[in-house]
Amino acid sequence: MSEPITSIKLSGGAAIPRFGYGTFKIDDGDVQAAVETALETGYRLVDTAVGYGNETGVGRAVAASGLKRDEVFLTSKTWDHGYDDVRRNLEESLERLGTEYLDLYLLHWPRPGLGKYVESWQALLDAREEGLIRAAGVSNFTIEHLDRIETETGAAAEINQVELHPYFSQPELRAYHAEHLIATESWGPLALRGGGLFDEPAVKAAAAAHERTPAQVALRWNLQRGNVVIPKSETPSRIRENWETLDFTLTDEELAAIDALDTGERQGGDPAVVGN
Ligand SMILES: NC(=O)c1ccc[n+]([C@@H]2O[C@H](COP(=O)([O-])OP(=O)(O)OC[C@H]3O[C@@H](n4cnc5c(N)ncnc54)[C@H](OP(=O)(O)O)[C@@H]3O)[C@@H](O)[C@H]2O)c1
Repeated sequence: MSEPITSIKLSGGAAIPRFGYGTFKIDDGDVQAAVETALETGYRLVDTAVGYGNETGVGRAVAASGLKRDEVFLTSKTWDHGYDDVRRNLEESLERLGTEYLDLYLLHWPRPGLGKYVESWQALLDAREEGLIRAAGVSNFTIEHLDRIETETGAAAEINQVELHPYFSQPELRAYHAEHLIATESWGPLALRGGGLFDEPAVKAAAAAHERTPAQVALRWNLQRGNVVIPKSETPSRIRENWETLDFTLTDEELAAIDALDTGERQGGDPAVVGN
């Protein structure tokens, strides 16, 4: 049995579950069943985005789950930039998800070449003020981008969702987050775009010691490093396997051995260039 999921309080006051369910690359036609399985398993955070094209199915799953709206933490993201376009994107996401508010809305990528992420950020701050979103955050922002929105609007992001796994553990960014009270949310926590993590001796040894799978060890490392973690799986047995990371604890030595796998190299896109 897993322990009940704990939450982190974001700087604006909303509580975000530490462990959630990612939906990237799940088609709208398949996502309802997948999210229903996740919610039945115990997940209470669902991460989607305009760009995933599956918000309608995610909304249907939440409605069909029998859970109250305030029992599920819903995140979506805007790909577009510019004050009015972000606002329009948000309103369309609310419509597709069948909800009056989002728990968290993110700027999906900074797309610095467009030169608009500060006005986009202002649109999120205003939407938070109006109650359309409970928390405002960003995704794939570097220290430079985070600094700029805070300096120019006076308000720091509440959370930054970034690629983060043992091969790319982002120590400098996490230190900056800690100083600025920005929570860290990890995408791609299984590092499968590059592969190989499950065969690393440090991961295999910890898995054997705790009678867990390498995937569970990778997720557990991420949780114990203080991050919100949102693995994706469409496979019911893996949805449950990933959930079963909440009831064991890696030792300091095991954590340090996994920390040592950091290469400083991304497996996913570079925020300086994606979407420019
Ligand atoms: N903000 C961003 O730019 C951004 C970018 C990427 C992702 N995200 C978010 O973060 C979430 C997670 O990231 P991700 O989907 O890229 O990567 P991930 O969760 O690290 O990996 C997903 C892949 O791992 C497989 N998998 C899941 N559990 C497994 C297990 N226990 N054992 C073996 N394989 C397993 C899945 O296969 P099956 O589905 O076939 O089981 C899928 O192919 C996304 O779904 C999305 O919500 C955000």
